[in-house]
Amino acid sequence: MTIKAFVIGHPIAHSRSPLIHGTWLAEYGIDGSYEAIDVAPTDLPAFFERLRSGEFAGGNVTIPHKEAVFALCDSVDDLARTIGAVNTLVVKDGKVHGTNTDYLGFLGNLDANALGWSEGLDAALVLGAGGAARAILVALQSRNIPVILLNRTRATADRLASEFGPDGFSIGTLDEINEAAALAGLVINTTSVGMHGTRFEQFDVGVLRAGTLVTDIVYTPLQTPLLEAAAAHGLRTVDGLGMLLHQAVPGFEAWFGIRPEVTPHLRARVEATLES
Ligand code: ATR
Repeated sequence: MTIKAFVIGHPIAHSRSPLIHGTWLAEYGIDGSYEAIDVAPTDLPAFFERLRSGEFAGGNVTIPHKEAVFALCDSVDDLARTIGAVNTLVVKDGKVHGTNTDYLGFLGNLDANALGWSEGLDAALVLGAGGAARAILVALQSRNIPVILLNRTRATADRLASEFGPDGFSIGTLDEINEAAALAGLVINTTSVGMHGTRFEQFDVGVLRAGTLVTDIVYTPLQTPLLEAAAAHGLRTVDGLGMLLHQAVPGFEAWFGIRPEVTPHLRARVEATLES
């Protein structure tokens, strides 16, 4: 019997998930399908009823449903609750379980592309305090890495500090970016800055120590102004596409029973769609 999975969103046409999972299904010769389904917010409850009927093994959830599905799932794990978003659903015995794999995507990307990145790391500088930052904070805390979090809006940083602090956690605003950057062995942009030619105007990558790793969740463009500046300064960089690819691994394994590999072939296929 064909095992079926999906990604729901609204709109959904631009999701790269069907390409990622479709590539793995073909590569591993699995009798499975992965389809993009446009589900309007008002149709979510009906879609969950359809899920409980057992038609699908599970699927992904994307914008704008990542928070709304909390109330519809039969169970949600603590991790997704801490992150505040569900991006992966697994259906078992007529029950829908919600989880979040973004933090594993972050860790998987760095583990694969920056060997030993977390060993002896004294501090990570996290730029931004939105949904993506929350997943990355869970990831960093799972490796016991002290965090300096800077956000444009101080109040949002305060909110995260009350949830993720106080141990190994300090906060500030982007005005302090150069002072904080000088203390960090890892810099992570979790904001949308870097898209559409935007950049952190006051950030001088010259303050970063040799050996600092710089990574970005933005992958359009792949080489954001931040990554370009860091690389020009001789620093190690990891782009954001790997996080997208690696967050897909646990879902595929849960639905189709094989832990898939993020290969150069998969990356090239997805990268080819980024220019358009
Ligand atoms: P996501 O869920 O994708 O992380 P989000 O919750 O809207 O998106 O969070 C966006 C993050 O990017 C926030 O930290 C936001 O800062 P504010 O809290 O001050 O809004 C940050 N951000 C967005 N545009 C920015 C910009 N031009 N400069 C600096 N930070 C920006």
